Amino acid sequence: MCGIVAYTGDQPAKGILIEGLKRLEYRGYDSSGIFILDSPPYLARSVGKVAELERRVWNSAPDGVAGIAHTRWATHGKPSEANAHPHTDCGSKLFLVHNGIIENYQLLKKHLVETGHQFKSETDTEVLAHLVEACYQGNLQVAVQKALLQVQGTFGIAVMHLDHPHTIVVARRGSPIILGIGEKASLAASDVSALAQHTDQVVYLEDNEVACLEPGKFSIITLDNRSVSRGTTSLDWDIESMDRGSFPHYMLKEIFEQPEAVENALRGRVNHSEAVAKLGGLESVQERLLQARHLIIVSCGTSFYAGLFGRYIFETLTDMTVETELASEFRYRKLNLRQGTVVLAISQSGETADTLAALREAKRKGALVLGLVNVVGSTIARETHAGVYSHAGIEIGVASTKSFTSQLTILTLMALLIGRSRDLSYEEGHEIIRALEKVPDQIREILKQANHVRELAEKYCHADHFLFIGRKYQYPIALEGALKLKEIAYIHAEGYAAGEMKHGPIALIDPKFPTLALALEDGSYERVVSNIQEIRAREGQILAVTTERNTKLGNLVDDLIYIPETHEAVAPLLTVVPLQLLAYYCGVLLGRDVDKPRNLAKSVTVE
Ligand code: F6R
Repeated sequence: MCGIVAYTGDQPAKGILIEGLKRLEYRGYDSSGIFILDSPPYLARSVGKVAELERRVWNSAPDGVAGIAHTRWATHGKPSEANAHPHTDCGSKLFLVHNGIIENYQLLKKHLVETGHQFKSETDTEVLAHLVEACYQGNLQVAVQKALLQVQGTFGIAVMHLDHPHTIVVARRGSPIILGIGEKASLAASDVSALAQHTDQVVYLEDNEVACLEPGKFSIITLDNRSVSRGTTSLDWDIESMDRGSFPHYMLKEIFEQPEAVENALRGRVNHSEAVAKLGGLESVQERLLQARHLIIVSCGTSFYAGLFGRYIFETLTDMTVETELASEFRYRKLNLRQGTVVLAISQSGETADTLAALREAKRKGALVLGLVNVVGSTIARETHAGVYSHAGIEIGVASTKSFTSQLTILTLMALLIGRSRDLSYEEGHEIIRALEKVPDQIREILKQANHVRELAEKYCHADHFLFIGRKYQYPIALEGALKLKEIAYIHAEGYAAGEMKHGPIALIDPKFPTLALALEDGSYERVVSNIQEIRAREGQILAVTTERNTKLGNLVDDLIYIPETHEAVAPLLTVVPLQLLAYYCGVLLGRDVDKPRNLAKSVTVE
């Protein structure tokens, strides 16, 4: 979604701001803009890629040492120069960028128009610029504070005023803002990736806080005027991981990083002698957790499919009843959050608005709320009672890949932790641990087949539709495989529980409608083979993923991808890898922008 970066210091701001915008590109955007405070002040906005804005900035921007910049993902008003941020007030003295949605903007705008303000865009954001102007009496932080008290909705904002050349005021409610404090410079951004090269000292702004930044220092007050004293925290961030290295795309790099992502998810988290998991982030709630009887997992998109896997693994390893709910639907359910209910929010970004809303609702109702989050310090990580970081490293490709395999690993560890305090035997626990520890090398083996998957992509990428089928542990993987193909290659794909085929989808099958079948030699193998035969009888093409020593499928299917033998519950960590590669290569062969698929954003901060 939209991105903000702001800088005040002793270096020319333009390079720092443009570099920051490029770091934010992966979040999704359709236009961008920059303001640099100089004499005269410089404002440039453009539609499309940041490279377009960059060209203009290098040609014409001054060397001013403070400024703000923005990438916009349109919500109110089409992508256009006039609607791009920064927006200004009537006197063009105040410049403002905004992430989020101002719900009462029409009412505020009506009042502002009646008092003489003139608007130049269709955005809700411009209302904020005029509102701050109306409240300004010489102190920018106070003006922002007064203006925001009138606002309903969500915001992360950065504001500059010509009367305060070295000052940037930022504020947040429901949309992240992180401050970066260096020796002679201060920055702010909506995502740490835009700060990380400049400082490792950060401050996470909380909802309803307004911060005033000057070079090398900051102060925070709340909207209701309490002053906040908060120190910086050190950022544990590997800058090198933000570059693509020799890979043509971030998505491919991140698919290939999965062996390390699983290793990192497991590191220091297994107690072999007790065949149990050690999850430091859950220690503070361990007593309540180990007594819990009911688990509700809430998440969206790929994280939701991880949650569906979570249902199977928790039900297998523990005696808990488990529900997996789309975070966006959570509020419409009349859930009985009885005592002993645990709600687990899963999110790569830790900023997904629907997941955040669901966890807040669960907290309100008294549930113990846990997080499984990748981005350290993100809002979901901070708002849950306790949680586990997936430690997958920064994921820049818009499609989730390595964060998914990390999520599956940690869900298995969480289930193991609870299961071992109940009925799960030492031997069963050990079997799971042994299987998990083999996964990184087994993924490396699968990745060696990348060329084979590319050839399959050449054969199948022109299909208009694709079906993915699997049972039990492979059902969420069928859904995930279909989602990847949709979002990366723009091929219409459906994921189905294989048993549902004859209840409808089989009507679609014809020679032009291929199916990918997840056919591992596990408890459901024979039934999946029956589904394959039914598809074959209708002349549907079949591409199957199966285990290495299975020699029986060859004459039933058109193409095969083999994965190493493993435990049934751990197999999803392997089967998802060729499906990610298939989507990636189909996307590349069809000329799609695989790292930034159209209409999508990495972090979905609006509901
Ligand atoms: C798919 C994808 C999205 C996200 C979803 C949730 O590849 O990336 O479906 O999984 O938007 O995002 P997080 O996990 O950040 O809450």
